[in-house]
Amino acid sequence: MKHIFKQGSDSTKPVLLLLHGTGGNEQDLLPLAGIVDKEASVLCVRGNVLENGMPRFFRRLAEGIFDEEDLIFRTTELNEFLDEAATKYEFNRQNIIAIGYSNGANIAASLLFHFKDSIKGAILHHPMVPRRGITLPDLSGKHVFIAAGKNDPICSQQESVDLHQLLEGANATVKAHWENQGHQLTMSEVEAATKWYQQIVSN
Ligand code: MLT
Repeated sequence: MKHIFKQGSDSTKPVLLLLHGTGGNEQDLLPLAGIVDKEASVLCVRGNVLENGMPRFFRRLAEGIFDEEDLIFRTTELNEFLDEAATKYEFNRQNIIAIGYSNGANIAASLLFHFKDSIKGAILHHPMVPRRGITLPDLSGKHVFIAAGKNDPICSQQESVDLHQLLEGANATVKAHWENQGHQLTMSEVEAATKWYQQIVSN
């Protein structure tokens, strides 16, 4: 997958896996990594699917309606890419924290839904439930931060509430952060995510 890897100054820190929203690319969320953890290595990936020229991590049939077959295929592809990247860049495969926005948050949630040990945790900005009606792996020890907007026209409140419950039902530890905003990624939610991350990493 097209990507950027930036070696951090502290290799004991998690590797931050940055996953952009629809129409973004591997450069988009780089500034977030600098805010969340300046010392961590960063792996920024570009989604392999194009929708009218806009990169995404998996196909959708309509807004909010996902192509499940492609979602599973692309989630597996990303998981395998993480295996390869860990070998190539010599980082700890067990110590990846994903930071995703919108479509990127949805593929990060899908990694958690399909693979027990793909990522150690995730910061999900404006996510949805990637798939319904499946049994999740045991996510004990996984930490997830969900940032959502009460007036988000793309990811409804119920999507975030359901995602929270499904992840907790699979034994993940989940923290939700709500703002009276829409779909945009706000600096205040990034600051809240950074505080949460610092607690997770220091424990
Ligand atoms: C998705 O397709 O993943 C969601 O609708 C969010 C987005 O628009 O990217």
